[in-house]
Amino acid sequence: MEQKIQEINNLDELAALYASVFGKNGTMTARLKEMKNLDPDARAALNTENTILRDAFKTRQTELETAALTAQLAAQRVDVTLPCAYEMRGALHPLTQSLSEISAILESFGYALKTGPEIEDDWHNFTALNTPAHHPARDMQDTFFLENGNVMRTQTSAIQIRSMQEDGVPIKIFGIGATYRKEMDATHSPMFHQIEGLYIDRDITMRDLIADVREFLARFFEIDNVELRIRPSYFPFTEPSMEIDIKWHGDKWLEIMGAGMVHPNVLRNCGIDPDVYQGFAFGFGWDRLAMLKYGLDDIRKFYDGDVRWIRNNGF
Ligand code: PHE
Repeated sequence: MEQKIQEINNLDELAALYASVFGKNGTMTARLKEMKNLDPDARAALNTENTILRDAFKTRQTELETAALTAQLAAQRVDVTLPCAYEMRGALHPLTQSLSEISAILESFGYALKTGPEIEDDWHNFTALNTPAHHPARDMQDTFFLENGNVMRTQTSAIQIRSMQEDGVPIKIFGIGATYRKEMDATHSPMFHQIEGLYIDRDITMRDLIADVREFLARFFEIDNVELRIRPSYFPFTEPSMEIDIKWHGDKWLEIMGAGMVHPNVLRNCGIDPDVYQGFAFGFGWDRLAMLKYGLDDIRKFYDGDVRWIRNNGF
């Protein structure tokens, strides 16, 4: 019998054999019932046989259960060293990253972020900015005209006008957004982005303008002693007007932005009395600032959606 138990290889068969020995009608059960008729030696022998058999079943059961568990673990084994399919981690586009840096700096100076429509009417994009029809300065920007006479916004300066009309003065804002001009090469894209600061109050001067621009550039480019070069220039909506250059890597001047004191006509066009209020505006290409900061050489790449380019440039 013990031999037979040892040879069984699955738990169901073992259970069936056990039932045939120890079950209600089992052979051992029957013999135990007759034990009272046996002499003491035969009783002791039967008891021993009974114990040995039970132990043999128990041992075999444990062996089979252990074997089953081992087989199950082997079947469910996971090879954690296998290469797996994985998703690449996303990142913010360089323009988005630079915008959050720029916004954080300007907001810390007290400028509030503003946006406006990309399709503008002629008045907000030009006329209110002291650039009436036939003004020669309209040719400074190669404009996309729509059939109904509206334009694709050529400059975020249009946001100045809307903000002054809506919020009145004093006002301290920066407008951000896409701007459009008919031009295309490595440093020009027909759609690009501008950011424009505007600060009007009772006694704002050019000193305030230069201080804010200097501090802004110092923080954005992380340069301790920013050297600026202020060149006289012309914009119809500022007087005086200037272009601001930055000393780059200690050896060359780079043009960074246009700026100036807001022209009295612009203030008047927005219902503001230029004898009481004055202030400044400055505007720059946000793409260009991002290109300089991150060392990129082709503005068009911002809009290609080529993930390899973005990754190769460390974003
Ligand atoms: N709007 C000007 C441009 O697009 C930049 C500018 C903004 C200049 C504000 C002066 C003041 O060239």
